Amino acid sequence: MDDLTGLRTPYYLYDLDLLKKTVSEAAAGAARYGYSIHYAIKANNDPVVSAVIRDMGLGADCVSGNEVRRSLEYGFAPEGIVFAGVGKTDDEIKLALAEDIFCMNVESVEELEVIQEIADLYGMRARVALRVNPSVEAETHQYITTGLNENKFGISLPHLRKALDICAGSGHVDFMGLHFHIGSQITSLEPYRRLCERVNIIWKEFGIETYGGRMVNLGGGLGIDYNDPEQNPVPDFSSFFAVFKETLDLPSGTELRFELGRSLVGQCGRIVTKVLYTKQGAGRKFVITDAGMTELMRPSLYQATHRIKNISSSGDPELYDVVGPVCESTDVFGKDILLPATSRGDLIQILSCGAYAQSMSLDFNLRDKPPARYSAGKKILSAAGLKGLKSIGSLMS
Ligand code: LLP
Repeated sequence: MDDLTGLRTPYYLYDLDLLKKTVSEAAAGAARYGYSIHYAIKANNDPVVSAVIRDMGLGADCVSGNEVRRSLEYGFAPEGIVFAGVGKTDDEIKLALAEDIFCMNVESVEELEVIQEIADLYGMRARVALRVNPSVEAETHQYITTGLNENKFGISLPHLRKALDICAGSGHVDFMGLHFHIGSQITSLEPYRRLCERVNIIWKEFGIETYGGRMVNLGGGLGIDYNDPEQNPVPDFSSFFAVFKETLDLPSGTELRFELGRSLVGQCGRIVTKVLYTKQGAGRKFVITDAGMTELMRPSLYQATHRIKNISSSGDPELYDVVGPVCESTDVFGKDILLPATSRGDLIQILSCGAYAQSMSLDFNLRDKPPARYSAGKKILSAAGLKGLKSIGSLMS
């Protein structure tokens, strides 16, 4: 990675070897039990990253019409695409029907009624799963918890019967099964065990099979190690999938699907940024980088912490607040970070930026959107350098 210097900063750097290793471990873990994975493309919609994942045979999980379109453009097969979201527009529903994607995850009785009307209008049958809010605590940051009664997501249990009856009474809805997603960056397997226990109860109490249910989509949320990413680059997928195998009690033949985002891509990405200034404040020293919250808003939005490294200096360690140039006080990557003595021009790397960094980037302050670069073996390449998406698999093998 010594040719890192000289490239214009900031940029996202994706390690395609690690990405491939991570996705293949996830795919193998799922395949052991016959489970399928849809990649939650909201985590990172970079064309190269997405193409690697597509080439490894995963489906896509989308939350907007544009994500559905983009996934199709990237070559994900329509029959591998699922589409969730609490506020699907009529146009997005029409798109999902026209493209004949695998399934829409329906988040309310009201939405189900609209889907069934639109399908009726076009003389079609909409494949749907009902997203249920299971009221399970995910033990993660409150802003990325989704499965509690106070959250806007999913159909709450008192409304599930009505939704099932609408499905049963409509010739324009093909009810596939249930969908759950309890939150993100979940680092304990206990919430998943509790989810499985809830699923068992819901499946039986509501007689899901009698409505034609034959699938459960358990969403995503498996966390990554932000504290020690270099020690733990690949999440423990086999323990994750084993929880479902051990705890779910569903009729044999029920299909299980997952929607993993962060756990597949989080550790393969980093931001490479340059120190513009080191500034002595009143009692603190600031390192001001050319990347800011516009490139990684997780620390500003969720008090998230990412490992920060100075790869240029081997000076004595000092404490710094590492901040960006954006006109917001929350534009801070980390406070009291121990770095080797740092000066203007040093290269800083912010680790674990493969998920929800580039895909959540902003042009606030009219800042440029930085490019992505890719490492494969010892090479660092631009997208053009990778010469077409189709060749990526062979490039890395
Ligand atoms: N399925 C659904 C329905 C989702 O809403 C999400 C993420 C996923 C799957 C994928 O979850 P994952 O495996 O990536 O945890 N921006 C936040 C995370 C928001 C997650 C939104 N939904 C962050 O940077 O922490």
